[in-house]
Amino acid sequence: MTTEVAGDQLVGLSRYGSVYLLDEEGSTNDYALGLAGKRATAVVVARRQTKGRGRFRREWFSDENSLTTSLLLFADAPDFPRPSFLVHLAGLALARAVEQTAAIATQIRWPNDVTVDDKKLAGILCEGRRNAVAVGIGLNLNQEQLPEELPDAVSLRMATGKQWDKFYLLENFLREMYASIEKAGKGESAQILADIKQRSSILHRRVEVQTLLRKHIGTVIDLDPEGRVVLRADSGRLVVIGAGDARRVR
Ligand code: BTN
Repeated sequence: MTTEVAGDQLVGLSRYGSVYLLDEEGSTNDYALGLAGKRATAVVVARRQTKGRGRFRREWFSDENSLTTSLLLFADAPDFPRPSFLVHLAGLALARAVEQTAAIATQIRWPNDVTVDDKKLAGILCEGRRNAVAVGIGLNLNQEQLPEELPDAVSLRMATGKQWDKFYLLENFLREMYASIEKAGKGESAQILADIKQRSSILHRRVEVQTLLRKHIGTVIDLDPEGRVVLRADSGRLVVIGAGDARRVR
């Protein structure tokens, strides 16, 4: 168990589920999904994560200065958002949480990276097993520098010159995430999508989108109600893309 969380913070976190504070774990997403049989929402935080993975099964860098956490939710809960939309809700909630914590402007690089000045601050990996969904967050928090293999990444400390409390940020994220889920459940997804579009760093930009199968180059003309990219490809064709990696090009 980690001891770095204050009692009142623990009480705050426990509003959102059973709290598991782990010293070392392979992947908090795996740990969270392993709790699914308990049928209760959970918040898992690891001080060190040894086998963290990113989207498309890429290795995910983290150290003790990172926030590595997973929120376990259940997709069969009443009014639960579609899993494809949940990914986007999580990006918005995290972008807002960072802003509330550190008063710094954030953007969302589709589908759900949180960036600061186009550098990646955090990534999100949503994974499901039957009705359980783990929303995994990896955020570079207090590193003074990051490995040189990650030239396009930034930590919150590097961006602000200050150290931040990971549990304070986490509580801000959980509050925002649950508020967005509730909003979506009340049929207010259009408002959420508008907020996501406002923060999007690729909307109306020329991008290259790499999917599992191919690469598309063109201009993003919209995000559809599912949060998918609507791209006017250079060939003139309109392409709708549900999953991939986007980067801006000239
Ligand atoms: C990405 O941008 O590729 C997503 C990265 C997600 C990393 C987090 S760290 C906590 C959780 N556990 C994992 O193994 N991955 C996610």
